[in-house]
Amino acid sequence: MDRMVEIETFSQEEESHEIRLRPDAWNEYIGQEQIKKNLSVFIQASKKREEALDHVLFYGPPGLGKTTLALIIANEMNANIKVTAAPMIEKSGDLAAILTNLEEGDILFIDEIHRLSPAVEEILYSSMEDYRIDIIIGSGPAAQTVKIDLPRFTLIGATTRAGMLSNPLRDRFGMSFRMQFYNSDELSKIVRQASLKLGKEIVHEASLEIAKRSRGTPRIALRLLRRVRDFADVVGEESIEHARAKYALNELGINAHGFDEMDLRLLNLLVSANGRAMGLSTIAASLSEDEGTVEDVLEPYLIANGYLERTAKGRRATRNTYEVLNMPPPLEEGNML
Ligand SMILES: Nc1ncnc2c1ncn2[C@@H]1O[C@H](COP(=O)(O)OP(=O)(O)OP(=O)(O)O)[C@@H](O)[C@H]1O
Ligand SMILES: [Mg+2]
Repeated sequence: MDRMVEIETFSQEEESHEIRLRPDAWNEYIGQEQIKKNLSVFIQASKKREEALDHVLFYGPPGLGKTTLALIIANEMNANIKVTAAPMIEKSGDLAAILTNLEEGDILFIDEIHRLSPAVEEILYSSMEDYRIDIIIGSGPAAQTVKIDLPRFTLIGATTRAGMLSNPLRDRFGMSFRMQFYNSDELSKIVRQASLKLGKEIVHEASLEIAKRSRGTPRIALRLLRRVRDFADVVGEESIEHARAKYALNELGINAHGFDEMDLRLLNLLVSANGRAMGLSTIAASLSEDEGTVEDVLEPYLIANGYLERTAKGRRATRNTYEVLNMPPPLEEGNML
């Protein structure tokens, strides 16, 4: 039987572009070497034993390749995969319907898994651990519990907010992997590979230029590539040259450090505190963002690159922050670092 890939959640135009550029084998998946190494051992082992792979959790900032990894695992395991997202599973009955439709060895991918409701989560526990669910039929005194056995399946969960997963849920994953930001060389390879898939040559300096301005994130790199390619196509440039890439990125207002407008607002805000730490809630309110977005989407890249520091008292600008904003650090040295 042919492998079945069922994807329910992708609808936007951006997503359909992504599907076209999405690697479906290990050799096209660049970077995340440690994760790839470990995963391929576990995949080989479970194939050898002819067992379903243990449940896997991927966590980390958006656009780093969690969904892509899930699809590659399915490919490697030669398994069917059903892709869904927690907000689409509203009631426990929705999950029960999905689970009872799985077949032996199938993979169920649940995106944004931290957003499951407690009732749904509870069903998930027993299905992950015992491959069994209890469904209550009817209500009141006439209610009956029916036990349903499930086939051995693999749950792959993905989340940008590992901290929001309940302990019992987190504990039921046999492996969990934290996604890392990509370095410029890796992103440059990703850009080049995607560009060739789009039928466009790109010189090394140009792919590196895009890479450096992509916030360590493949999704951003690919988006910038598409825009840069537009600039090249309009003037009929055969392969994307360095000057074209630079010009296009500048036109798009992408800063040489890859900061976007939100990053710059956050960094400017921190710097305005003059060396003092600022609380998460204050930051969120000043940026009109919710705290979760600040913590999970905005901060990780800035922290990983030394532009923001988390302390017991709150968030602080670092020396690098002042440097990158071309501002003098505060006079009271005691307040810095
Ligand atoms: N290691 C990689 N090598 C090549 N392309 C990659 C890699 N990681 C991600 N991509 C590309 O980047 C895009 C975003 O990846 P993906 O959708 O898997 O991210 P995600 O972590 O699931 O994001 P989100 O948290 O928003 O769901 C995809 O188009 C994918 O093709
Ligand atoms: Mg995803």
